[in-house]
Parts: sequence; C-alpha cells; structure tokens
Amino acid sequence: MSYYIGLMSGTSLDAIDAALVCFSDQHCELQHHLALPIGEDIRQQALSLLHPGDNELARLCRLDVQLGRLFADAVQALLLQADLDYSAIKAIGSHGQTLRHYPNDKFPTSLQIGDPNIIAEQTGITTVADFRRRDMAAGGQGAPLVPAFHQAMLRDKRYNRVIVNIGGIANITVLAKELNQAVIGFDTGPGNALLDSWAQQHRQQRYDKEGQWAAGGTCHQALLDTLLNDSYFSHPPPKSTGRETFNLQWLEKSLHNFPDLKTQDIQATLLELTVVSIAQAILKYSPNTEQVLICGGGVHNKFLMQRLAAHLPKQAVQSTRSAGIEPDWVEAIAFAWLAKQTLNAQAGNLASVTGARHPLILGGIYPASIPLEPQRHPGQQK
Ligand SMILES: Nc1ncnc2c1ncn2[C@@H]1O[C@H](COP(=O)(O)OP(=O)(O)O)[C@@H](O)[C@H]1O
Ligand SMILES: [Mg+2]
Repeated sequence: MSYYIGLMSGTSLDAIDAALVCFSDQHCELQHHLALPIGEDIRQQALSLLHPGDNELARLCRLDVQLGRLFADAVQALLLQADLDYSAIKAIGSHGQTLRHYPNDKFPTSLQIGDPNIIAEQTGITTVADFRRRDMAAGGQGAPLVPAFHQAMLRDKRYNRVIVNIGGIANITVLAKELNQAVIGFDTGPGNALLDSWAQQHRQQRYDKEGQWAAGGTCHQALLDTLLNDSYFSHPPPKSTGRETFNLQWLEKSLHNFPDLKTQDIQATLLELTVVSIAQAILKYSPNTEQVLICGGGVHNKFLMQRLAAHLPKQAVQSTRSAGIEPDWVEAIAFAWLAKQTLNAQAGNLASVTGARHPLILGGIYPASIPLEPQRHPGQQK
C-alpha cells in the first residue's frame, strides 16, 4: 500500500483538483480530495497567456511561480484535511496548467506550468511533472494520457466500455472486453470549453448550470453542420486538441453566416456539438459499446447527459461512479497513478493511443530534499 497525491487543473481553469490516493496491486482508493478554487487574478493571467500577447515570457515566468505555490498550497491543505504528515506520501503527480498544446507543429510541444521545484520544496514531497513532452519526443501526441489509467482501473472483461472525460476538452478511451485488443483513445473535440465561454460572454456566468440555458434553446442544425465540418472531427486518431483550436474565435468564423441566431440557440447548438462529436466518435471506433462511463465536470450538466443518452440509445450511459471511481476525481487520481508509474520505472503512456513509437516512463522527477546540514555562505557570520 502506498499513498500518492494527484494534482490536476484542466483547460476549464475552474479549480485545482487534488486527490490523495492509496494504491494496492490493481486497485486504487480515493482517500481524500479537495478542489482549490483558482482566484480571478490567476485565472485571468492564465487565460491571457493562452494566446500570443505582449510581454508573454515575463508574464509566463511569474505565473509559473504563482501556480507552483498554489499547487503546493493545495497539497498542504489536503494533508491537513487527511491529518497526514508529508512523509506518508510517496510522490505527487502534477499535471500543471496547460498554456499551449502543439502536437502537430513542425516543432511539436506542449507547455504545462506550475513550477514543480516549488511544489517539491514547499511540501517536502517528491514531485513528478511535465508528463507530456517525453511522449511527444517519441513522436506521440503527448495526449490523452488518462487512457492508460482507465485501462489499468476500469477495463472489465464482461463489457465493452468507453470512458468519456468531459472537461474543457472531451476525450474517450475505448476498452474492449477482449483484453488483447489495443486501447483506442483520443480527444473528440470541445467538451465544456465553448459552452463555458459562450455562457460567460452572454450570461456572465462561469458555466451554464446543469445546462438549463441550453435546454431552453433550440439547436440550429445548419450551424451545427458547419461546426462539425471542421476537419478535426473526421481526422483519424491519434489526435489531440486544446483551447488554442476550439475557442470563441473558432466559433465566430462560422457565426458570420448566421447573423440572426439567438444567443440561447447558439448555446443549445454548442451543447449538441459536444454531444454529437462524442457520440459519433464512440459509434465509429467502438460500435459494440455496451457501457459508456462519464467523468469530468460535464457529468453535472444534466441536459448534456440527457442528450448524450439520446444519441446512444443502445448503450448504458452512466457516471464512472457505477464502476467505483468518483467522476470528478478521475483525472487527479490518474495523475497520482502516473507519478506511481514513473517512480516504479513503468510506462505511463499507451503508444496505441498517443502514437508514440513505444511505451515510455513519463515526466521529470523533482526529489524531496534530503535534510542536509545547513551550509553557511563563506561570507556569513556564525
Ligand atoms: N452543475 C454543473 N452544470 C453544468 N456544468 C457543470 C456543472 N459543474 C461543472 N460543470 C462543468 O464542468 C467544468 C469543469 O470540469 P472539469 O472536469 O473540472 O474540467 P477541466 O478538466 O477542464 O478543469 C465547468 O467549467 C463546467 O463547464
Ligand atoms: Mg477542472
């Protein structure tokens, strides 16, 4: 039995999710969790750094430190809640805040910030971070990484399962009941990101609670078809995406052709876009799916869940809770697991998912400091 902490802050920029997980053999148990809200100042700084702008590098360096401290604060709050000493934790797996994800560039890279040096130093716990770029160095997309965890914890030889994570971006993992079949996994496109951005712009709300606003609108089929025409949706995997692709500027390009649409109908259309892109991906890459297990914040959007179930009438659509893992914490638990894999010198990626040339030990390890005799600088007085 060993304890790990996973830290996740996704593209929604809503909160830092921290999960304290106990692993034994093929099993994981979520012991404690907390979501540390991201303050408006840091959130705005991160949002502004998602796109090129003035003085980017200096702003990035500053935010790297601020987020590093915030991640460490989240760990310390979690330990307090759990009444555990830092020495009980083997390692922290920190995803970091993604600012750029360029998997298909001539110079492919992905940037996650929140300095792990600070996390290791402030908490006294070995920290693993920068999980994506090793996969990219081996020709992979660097994403999605959670499918390896889904395979380890959620594969079931009785059912053909698909795990759907609906964060800012949505991704699926196909887990066939025949255990020798390679796992398929990829980002399907937008999850909540466009829904959130549109609700923020027109309703001054962080998100459309339970999808109520969208539910009162009408999906506009011609706009939906235009949006679905984006080549990302038909492109075969491996593939991954981010907010640098699916954002309001991307939407505006299509909206020019539909100037008279009501904002509420656009919200309904965006919700349908998320639903249809997920459902089509499932039916195309796993037509015999029996169970669809949902995790990520999208699970709380009642209307989105209803629409997804309507598009997948032959499948049981339910939350990952039904398979024993709380849907809000799957990603944070996955990064705790990824840290464990790295410390045990085991692979964290699935080459069949990311397209990397081979399985890899992911991430950089930032060791907890060994208590040393304090050393005086030669100029320092005794
Ligand atoms: N009650 C709710 N109703 C509708 N949407 C919700 C609700 N709760 C959470 N969400 C959605 O989930 C998002 C957060 O999901 P999360 O999985 O944390 O994403 P990320 O991994 O990108 O941070 C919110 O921004 C919001 O869109
Ligand atoms: Mg989140």
